[in-house]
Amino acid sequence: MHDFYRLLTSLILIFFLCPIVSAKEPDINQLALIIMQKQSTPESRHQSIEAGRDRALLCSVCHGIDGNSTRPEVPNLAGQNPVYLLDQIEKFSDGRRKNYVMNSLAKDFSSDDKINLAIYYNSMSVKMPTVNNKLATQGKQIYETQCSSCHGMRGTGSISFARIAGQQPIYVFTTLKQFRDNANSDSDKSLKKRNSNIMEPIVKQYSDKELEMISAYIAQLQ
Ligand code: HEC
Ligand code: HEC
Repeated sequence: MHDFYRLLTSLILIFFLCPIVSAKEPDINQLALIIMQKQSTPESRHQSIEAGRDRALLCSVCHGIDGNSTRPEVPNLAGQNPVYLLDQIEKFSDGRRKNYVMNSLAKDFSSDDKINLAIYYNSMSVKMPTVNNKLATQGKQIYETQCSSCHGMRGTGSISFARIAGQQPIYVFTTLKQFRDNANSDSDKSLKKRNSNIMEPIVKQYSDKELEMISAYIAQLQ
């Protein structure tokens, strides 16, 4: 009798755990659907923003209470595409993207926390960072020919691509350098701070100077 209950418990566990395991890396479409459902009525959107604001207190030292970063190496979250935000929070929480603070914070979030934070930050507006105008002018041509097809002419992104307009130039520069250096290295991808099969080949051939120009151009896009 005892064994029967053990077996039954195992079967029930397997039944419930399988969908969780296979849903571990949700794709962008699944995340988009979750965000859409959460904002399906003005009331549910409002509740989500309020709950997100509560949670965001933890984040404000670095990202600012309104999602405008207080430090050059920290990205702005204000106005960011909520599907992109949710995707990145998921990546921090399961370790696909690595940053000590972000990994420790994100692994304690419930699914609801993650969604609410994404919707909250999306509802805030971006404040423009200070930019070196000479560099920015030099970055325009590369941006328009190589980047705008996904991130948009004005850098506003879309449902599946990050908004980059008004992003902190030092953060963008560091991020692009990471993608470039990954593309030019043979070492184990899973140990890298951040991977992207899409971004890595795109920035593979740029010099530091060119990445600086592109980062300045992106930062002044409104
Ligand atoms: C101690 C500072 C610090 C705190 C506190 C912090 N973050 Fe971060 N966050 C960072 C840094 C630094 C990065 C960039 C990591 C990198 O370079 O990849 C980041 C990146 C992110 C990103 C990715 C943004 C992008 O454009 O890709 C999201 C989303 C994010 N944080 C959300 C949060 C949330 C939500 C909280 C609060 C629960 C929080 N962070 C608290 C420092 C912090
Ligand atoms: C084919 C589509 C595509 C093109 C073209 C493209 N990107 Fe991206 N970009 C992406 C995707 C997808 C991501 C998200 C990567 C991830 O999952 O972390 C991204 C992420 C980024 C990020 C990180 C945003 C953040 O908040 O951390 C930056 C910065 C960026 N791209 C800049 C550029 C620049 C500069 C160019 C041109 C040289 C460019 N991208 C061209 C698809 C594209």
